[in-house]
Amino acid sequence: MSDTNPAPTPDGWRSVDAYLTETLVEKDSALEHARAAQDAAGLPAIEVVPLTGKLLHLLARMIGARRVLEIGTLGGYSTIWLARAVGEEGRVTTIEAEPRNAAVARRSIDDAGVGARVEIRQGRAAEVLPQLEGPFDLVFIDADKESNTIYLDWAARLGREGTVVVVDNVVRAGRIVDPENHESQVEGVRRSLAMLADDDRFDATAVQTLDAKGWDGFAVALITHPGDSSGGAEPARH
Ligand code: DHB
Ligand code: MG
Repeated sequence: MSDTNPAPTPDGWRSVDAYLTETLVEKDSALEHARAAQDAAGLPAIEVVPLTGKLLHLLARMIGARRVLEIGTLGGYSTIWLARAVGEEGRVTTIEAEPRNAAVARRSIDDAGVGARVEIRQGRAAEVLPQLEGPFDLVFIDADKESNTIYLDWAARLGREGTVVVVDNVVRAGRIVDPENHESQVEGVRRSLAMLADDDRFDATAVQTLDAKGWDGFAVALITHPGDSSGGAEPARH
């Protein structure tokens, strides 16, 4: 390895993110509109970056996903990426706790022309999830990190063998490895990574990312044994 390689700096990795985005992600007015609408409504700019949105979209297409579950809609940016992947007959169910976010998302998703494919369930995910019926082919977890293990448990119950689960924000600017850090979100992420390692229902890895949003990462898991944690049971039906 050459020792002349530069160390990553925020300017450097943002430039690389911009370059990769420019090179690989086609400009899209509906997605740009969704981000602008989110901004205008005062929602936080914590949606996935375009390259990650496209990764979710490609993962869904790679597995031929027809039913997608998203936990944490925010302004609908990732929802639109996912909705475009499932096809005309596909469905995305997305859960959002904040009524204001859900309203912004509803508009942007409808404006993007994929409204018929997307059901927004407004409410606390822990309360909505027991009302859902699986199986989902792909689950994207991007909500309150404190509840990640609850969401993973529901992903396994509402999934099937082969369901893909993606968990956003598992690095938190490196705070997950700071032993002094006991923030509730960081602890929530640690618990979810430990669950992915120890719970026989999942096989998982994680990738750290440097992008326009900073230093973070995502976990990707395969559901190998769906059902509740007692092992191998069918997904819960309600
Ligand atoms: C936060 C949440 C996210 O889902 C994200 O992608 C980035 C930040 C947050 O709560 O700070
Ligand atoms: Mg996120």
